[in-house]
Amino acid sequence: MTLPEASPSGFGEVRWLSEIDSTNRYLIDEARAGAPTGLVVVADHQTSGRGRLGRTWVAPPGASLLVSLLLRPTVAPDRRHLLVMAAGLAMAEAVEAETGVVAGLKWPNDLLVGEHKLAGILAEAAGDALVVGIGVNIEWHEVPAELTEIATACNLEGGRPTTPATVLHAFLGRYTERLENLDGSRAAYEARLLTLGRRVRVEQAGGVLAGVAIGVDPDGRLRLRTDDETEVAVAVGDVVHVRTEA
Ligand code: BTN
Repeated sequence: MTLPEASPSGFGEVRWLSEIDSTNRYLIDEARAGAPTGLVVVADHQTSGRGRLGRTWVAPPGASLLVSLLLRPTVAPDRRHLLVMAAGLAMAEAVEAETGVVAGLKWPNDLLVGEHKLAGILAEAAGDALVVGIGVNIEWHEVPAELTEIATACNLEGGRPTTPATVLHAFLGRYTERLENLDGSRAAYEARLLTLGRRVRVEQAGGVLAGVAIGVDPDGRLRLRTDDETEVAVAVGDVVHVRTEA
């Protein structure tokens, strides 16, 4: 992984914008125009925040960390998703250090408290570059009506007051360390993985897989024991934690 050496975190310039449609969209355009690896873009508010699977990402203005990072990875294309999983882990660690809120991970990289989403990550390719966009709900005084059942924020979980800038700073340092030791991060990742041992449904383009999550392989794929006792490794898909009756 090549990152600028001048910055203590390993990341480079941080551009902080008051409003933008989407920090991922902005950074993809910058990447295509030749922006360097390590460029970071943050916004106080997004008017068209992008989520995974074509969804939108909604966050009240000024209350979240909305950040995108530009990486020009040197790892093999089939290991790039490890960079994204490492971002989820580093963000969970940063949030815990700054607020005391302990977030778990839903494979591959959602941050959850209980079953409520605290943060999400959308990685998008732009040629040989990778844009990793992260939204973290920090200080929400109102929860948008459509999110009351599914989202949470650090303050709503009793976290110590903090700011998006503080969480960003903590995250950049941790993410740099994780990127420098991708393979060594697997145990820490698994230790935070709420998906482990859970019955899950994996929604993929070709259909739905159901089974119990039993681990993560060295390439970051989710190991699943399906109902016919076959073991499969899932590389992509939208995982749903299935509620089981006690
Ligand atoms: C998800 O659906 O879980 C991923 C959400 C990713 C949201 C972040 S906010 C900053 C960056 N810019 C975007 O438009 N999306 C990502």
